[in-house]
Amino acid sequence: MEITELLPLIIADNKLHARWLNTLSLMENTGARKISASEDPLTVTYIILKHAAEEHRHAFYLKKQIERTGDTYCPTYAAGYLVAPEFSRYYLNILDVSVCRYLKKELGLSGKDLRFAAYLLVTYAIEVRADELYPVYQEALENAGSKVNVKSIILEEEGHLEEMISQLKKFSPQWELHAKHAVELESQLFEDWVQALSNEIKTYEVYKAS
Ligand SMILES: [Fe+2]
Ligand SMILES: [Fe+2]
Repeated sequence: MEITELLPLIIADNKLHARWLNTLSLMENTGARKISASEDPLTVTYIILKHAAEEHRHAFYLKKQIERTGDTYCPTYAAGYLVAPEFSRYYLNILDVSVCRYLKKELGLSGKDLRFAAYLLVTYAIEVRADELYPVYQEALENAGSKVNVKSIILEEEGHLEEMISQLKKFSPQWELHAKHAVELESQLFEDWVQALSNEIKTYEVYKAS
């Protein structure tokens, strides 16, 4: 199933919807912690601080939206409160490892330079994804008449993509080539993640019907 087919099924079931929101919250939190971890304590900029703060807010905001599903049963990020828990938990790490491997091989980077370049490319690819996924989710929420909304996240994610592009331009004249490669790596991961979600939701629907 495609994500556009999965979302109405998720939104229609309060428990599943709560787990989905909790999973997005986990992924935002992983991103926020990753940005903070890659910060250089001396040279960290306004843009990086703003970005980390906003990703932390997204994690909190999504957690808070769970109340609006009428379900409050996701107190932590334990596997039982998530969808596709393993995959969702390691999504960003897998992407980070693949991007680092690419940067080492293609640009011979290491240490601090490698960390910064990986931050740029991984975050760029994630922002491209966020700019695609959140509007599709928002539309599905509106179609279902849900009380949940992610409009404030959409606005901030658009800003993030622009900020990543301006940082990438300063990083390399060939930034588009590297960014394209990061997006390809992320797209493969996204496809696998949707597949994992799809399998889990099919099993859940069969369980509900029995
Ligand atoms: Fe975000
Ligand atoms: Fe973002």
